[in-house]
Amino acid sequence: MKRHLLSISDLTYDDAVLILDTAAELAKISDAPVKKLPTLRGRTVVNLFFEDSTRTRISFEAAAKRLSADVINFSAKGSSLSKGESLKDTALTLQAMGADAVIIRHNASGAPARLADQQWMTGSVINAGDGTHEHPTQALLDAFTIRKHLRPEKKDLTGVKVAIVGDVLHSRVARSNVLLLNKLGAEITLVAPPTLLPVGVENWPVKIAFGLDAVVAHSDVVMMLRIQRERMAELFFPSEREYSRQFGLNSDRLKKLKPNALVMHPGPMNRGLEISADSADSLQSVIVEQVTNGVSVRMAVLYLLLGGAPLAAAANIESNEKVGM
Ligand code: NCD
Repeated sequence: MKRHLLSISDLTYDDAVLILDTAAELAKISDAPVKKLPTLRGRTVVNLFFEDSTRTRISFEAAAKRLSADVINFSAKGSSLSKGESLKDTALTLQAMGADAVIIRHNASGAPARLADQQWMTGSVINAGDGTHEHPTQALLDAFTIRKHLRPEKKDLTGVKVAIVGDVLHSRVARSNVLLLNKLGAEITLVAPPTLLPVGVENWPVKIAFGLDAVVAHSDVVMMLRIQRERMAELFFPSEREYSRQFGLNSDRLKKLKPNALVMHPGPMNRGLEISADSADSLQSVIVEQVTNGVSVRMAVLYLLLGGAPLAAAANIESNEKVGM
């Protein structure tokens, strides 16, 4: 495994499967009453967030704390970053504090790679979402969730049909998922208006559909994407009502899903735009579970990148089980 996780392309097939398997082991900890392992004791993990985030930031924080690392939360607002400090000076400060891992979210695509390439720091850099580029741990938690439900006995996702629907153009979640789900053998269809597909999409390992009705009945997973208004300087579709009518997951389309198909969304959702409330809250929705699984997957990533003490974890989980905790 490489030192940094900047993109899904940093992972081999075996690395990806190892992360999912390790996450499955570590998930047992999240279910135990004492949700803590000593494996990263004494290590320092910094959450460096230049962009707003709820679930990703707290998920990384919970993951690091469950492995007993010290966590420093550093958000751009209220720090010297808002006084114009450069990424380099910030990195040197983090290095001086002995950060073993820096989890970075930035609105500029490529910012995590810059932090890693310049060797300003000796620790690992983990991309928690950079601009419209990538969000590798989101894709890993999505793959984990799909495997758990649809391929529980298998290593990968061979043959699973996944529709990724909506604002692909601005979505780092979609980019990382296309790379990862394809690596794991899933068959991907992107569903979006032509204006919300990136240039060069014809070279991606995907099929394309221009309406949700065409794919909804054949998909094993329907992954809805948020319409990212904050990244839209112009109009990409005539009206929200029209967008919902063609691309939204609503009660009619929900009824057409296969009985065991999964409804997913990375959050935050625009209820009523890309997804109706009844779809988001339906029995087929695993949206809340995605958040839970995110903690286990991020524990696995931190554990594997930082080379945590050997799964003393396993011993601990067992002793928890033995004493009926
Ligand atoms: C995503 C993100 O920030 O890229 N959310 C997340 O990490 N859970 C998707 C989004 O903002 O739409």
